[in-house]
Amino acid sequence: MLGKEDTAVRGNFLSALAMLIAVSVTLINIFNPLLIIIGISVGALVGSLIALKVKMTSIPEMVALFNGFGGLATFFIAWSEFNSSIDNSFQYILIMLTVYIGGVTFSGSIIAYGKLSERLKIAKTSIITKLFTTIFYISLVYLFYSAALTEIFIPTFDFFTILLVLTLLGGVGFVLPIGGGDMPVVISLLNSLSGVAAAFAGIVISNTALIVAGCLVGASGLVLTLIMAKSMNRSLYNIFFVGYAASKGDAQEVSGEVKPISAEDSFLILESASSVLVVPGYGMAVAQAQHVVKELGDLLEENGCEINFGIHPVAGRMPGHMNVLLAEANVPYDNLLEPKDINPKMNTVDVVLVIGANDVVNPSATEQPGSPIYGMPIIEVHKAKTVIILKRSMSSGFAGVQNPLFFKENSRMLFGDAKESISKLVAEFKD
Ligand code: TAP
Repeated sequence: MLGKEDTAVRGNFLSALAMLIAVSVTLINIFNPLLIIIGISVGALVGSLIALKVKMTSIPEMVALFNGFGGLATFFIAWSEFNSSIDNSFQYILIMLTVYIGGVTFSGSIIAYGKLSERLKIAKTSIITKLFTTIFYISLVYLFYSAALTEIFIPTFDFFTILLVLTLLGGVGFVLPIGGGDMPVVISLLNSLSGVAAAFAGIVISNTALIVAGCLVGASGLVLTLIMAKSMNRSLYNIFFVGYAASKGDAQEVSGEVKPISAEDSFLILESASSVLVVPGYGMAVAQAQHVVKELGDLLEENGCEINFGIHPVAGRMPGHMNVLLAEANVPYDNLLEPKDINPKMNTVDVVLVIGANDVVNPSATEQPGSPIYGMPIIEVHKAKTVIILKRSMSSGFAGVQNPLFFKENSRMLFGDAKESISKLVAEFKD
């Protein structure tokens, strides 16, 4: 049910119901459930308050935090199992792996949260990043070393405590050097890891529901991770161990001049267009412009114009971000096109309206081998006859890269909040 928008809400509800049944059955089986009931009540209250308060544009950060808490829970489960009766090395190895994956998921997700909310701005070349990255590698070595040692002796408390600390610091070093356009891949990998950690915890405490649920999240998260990496044209190894190898600084010279345009003049161009492509990005989410965009699309269609939407897989800040927003505004799914469908016929499009998108339409990804986003597939809007870009300023997108699109001969900048600008266009059409 989660695979289709029409049934996704029901699918979510069904999963929540299944969880409720699993929790209830567990409670019936427990001799003294008071502590668990208190835990669930506090968690449910905090979770509900956060979910009710969160802005649509902050959902990706919230998802990162939720992944992290999943990791933290399994980290604690495995830690507590270390302190109970364990007598063979297999169980120790399992516990160490669970602690490690859970801990890395937790601290890595906190860093991902900081990066997504743009609160954490540490350069990948900084000494702090290098220090934590080194700790990450040390933690990996220590994990394998201690796992190997369990054949010889059962680890002491101190030995295990070092693993706990290294794990949490290692998670920071795992995510800190990854940045720019690679964050979507990291988020889905952390999501997958939270599932893997839960599955391991399920094995540790012999809980079938946890194993099944963990495997589901782990496997689907991994598939999503691979899809995201493919859509960024990058291998997982490249993302996690090489970084932006091609990034030799963004020394590119951008030539050309910026040509601002008014809403009135944009209307005149749109009115005479026979095909329009809308390319939304993160800015559409910030402005919450999806409803007026749909209204503008309807008006253009009434005017005899063919209208389509070009959706880049990493536009916005979470997988399917644009699809969710446009579905909310009832834009027909058939009008949404992927880059591989739209790029070959871009030169036949009269006008492209870029609404708060930046990195996903940045031609330096295909034209400038030194660019930090070189190699990432984009929607090649610069090949259309005219491009109107709606944004508030000349600032860069998430990857922090200058965009030569804004300086191209066929580009016009419609400055301002996307919702306000589109509303002006709608008003012009209605007049
Ligand atoms: P971005 O490159 O982030 O650009 C968004 C643009 O929207 C900004 O340049 C900003 O310019 C503009 N904007 C912001 N608020 C606006 C408003 N109220 N009205 C009009 N414009 C507004 O977005 P994108 O093209 O969608 O690319 C997504 C980026 O995020 C990629 O680098 C991707 O790798 C990364 N990322 C994606 C995900 C997923 S899974 N989708 C997750 C994490 C990171 P002004 O400030 O000048 O208005």
